[in-house]
Amino acid sequence: MCGIVGYVGPRQASDVLLGGLARLEYRGYDSAGAAIMSEDELVVVRRVGKLVNLREAIAGKPVPGTVGIGHTRWATHGAPNEENAHPHVDCSGKIAVVHNGIIENYMELREELAANGHVLRSETDTETVAHLVESYYEGDLTAAVIKTVRRLTGAYALAIVHLEDPGTIVAARVDSPLIIGIGDGENIVASDIPAVLEFTREVLVLEDGDVATVTANGVSVVDAAGRPADSEMMHIEWDLAAAEKGGYEDFMLKEIHEQPRAIRETLRGRMDATGKMQLSELQMTEAQLAAVERVFIVACGTSYHAAVVAKSLIEQWARIPVEVEVSSEFRYGNPIVGEDTLVVAITQSGETTDTLAAVREARRRGAKVFAITNVVGSRVTRETDGVIYTHAGPEIGVAATKTFTAQIAALTVLALKLAQANGMLDQKRVEALWEELSHIPEIVEAILADANDIAECAAEYKDANSSLFLGRGMGVPVAMEGALKLKEISYIHAEAYAAGEMKHGPIALITSEVPVVVVATQGHTYEKVVSNIQEVRARGARVIAVATHGDQDIQRHAEHVLYIPAVSEALSAIPATVPMQLLSYHIAKLRGCNVDQPRNLAKSVTVE
Ligand code: F6R
Repeated sequence: MCGIVGYVGPRQASDVLLGGLARLEYRGYDSAGAAIMSEDELVVVRRVGKLVNLREAIAGKPVPGTVGIGHTRWATHGAPNEENAHPHVDCSGKIAVVHNGIIENYMELREELAANGHVLRSETDTETVAHLVESYYEGDLTAAVIKTVRRLTGAYALAIVHLEDPGTIVAARVDSPLIIGIGDGENIVASDIPAVLEFTREVLVLEDGDVATVTANGVSVVDAAGRPADSEMMHIEWDLAAAEKGGYEDFMLKEIHEQPRAIRETLRGRMDATGKMQLSELQMTEAQLAAVERVFIVACGTSYHAAVVAKSLIEQWARIPVEVEVSSEFRYGNPIVGEDTLVVAITQSGETTDTLAAVREARRRGAKVFAITNVVGSRVTRETDGVIYTHAGPEIGVAATKTFTAQIAALTVLALKLAQANGMLDQKRVEALWEELSHIPEIVEAILADANDIAECAAEYKDANSSLFLGRGMGVPVAMEGALKLKEISYIHAEAYAAGEMKHGPIALITSEVPVVVVATQGHTYEKVVSNIQEVRARGARVIAVATHGDQDIQRHAEHVLYIPAVSEALSAIPATVPMQLLSYHIAKLRGCNVDQPRNLAKSVTVE
């Protein structure tokens, strides 16, 4: 989730690019760069770290010129260093490219380009685009870009310049956002609206497959078939602060709504054409994966809840025993891990001290350790044997939302991979589960589109002091995550229990003042969950049930029902979590809490 800005017009491009990139820095910030047409030279400046480093470099050695492209990077392929920073150039140094997204077939393209004599200097997927444009260029940049994008699979927003066509930026997109701010004698390409608001409020939104040729005086767009495109113009009313949050009130709400994209990106390319689950990052052969006898997962907080989901999936599908432990306990325990154990460390930030210590302890005991993280180049990526990235983009709200559901998506792929490797799931079943998993983003979209009743429900419970969250099976980690979200952002005491445990103690807490949130989606323990609901209602509790569309009966047992579309039990954790996130969000907002920066909490917990 990088930030792109391109400028063509009468102003100094470096000023517009740096200003625009500053407004996009929330999208990613491990390196930044710009390519500017300066007299008869294409000057590329790139710096590691925050945008200020690029700003200082350009201030120290100004690059005059009125056409250019710029980028802030949130690394996906290759470490966050200067070689991998954008823009990337072709062999001649005349073509420069900035990119947001993931090009899935980049390995094949790299091999093909290298075989044809191109010299690639970075580890990125993006650099292949610069060389492909070079190979197709015959005097018309747009034509070369059209040929190039036909070779790409995956997601991209691209802005490309060529020294031989110095007044033009060619932009293209599939599955990554890209807009063009339409000014008077100037135009600005950007991955998001905040970057253009200083100059214009008229914005053209590119559609998937569009290729736009942008000059100072005009924009022409063709669609994927090469026909003139029917692009949509928008007038933007938002102020800058609202624009950074995509028009949402808070980053947390924006990030909740970004979940379909985050899950889609995390799943992208995970099954190949032969039906094999792809996790090449593990660098383990099928035979090594088939030989895994134990899995140990360490994590903290929300990431720990993703671990509990993974335990259920791996045990169910691959029939491999899985232990799950919070990192802070693991590091000081005497855990039974060794060479036969696959250890997985889940940490969205990649910087959590307790999890890093657990990783070191597991490696000290001889285990192979893999990380699941959202941050390329974070500490955990340097201390483990392999990394599976979630592609959720930067999460700014302190409460984890989109990184949690993206972790579950990645862990579901891991569980399928292990089960495929050891033969516990046959190919037909793997394909059927993958097919269903691929539709989870649409299910989340449907939940988000029909969420009004959640705000109404929140209004009734906003004054509670204490609450309980219950579930069974896959509903247990969902309940745990629901309780954590509510307590951390609304400051209402919330506890989660396996519903069957209620009668062993917690039921003593039940009064009409204690709302009980129950995960009651369809599954093999549904009837048992309904019995648990009856037990708490008999003691005066008010129940909010998360249930499956079509279950009318549940309305007899609960004051409020938050419905999700039907989904198989194993894949229900992501959809069932979304109403929980929204319920906590609305309750916290009604109580006047700062949901993005809850008290006492930090986004990366780098202390013990
Ligand atoms: C809760 C939350 C925390 C983190 C925990 C671990 O919303 O964000 O509980 O999940 O601090 O953080 P990571 O995943 O970065 O290791």
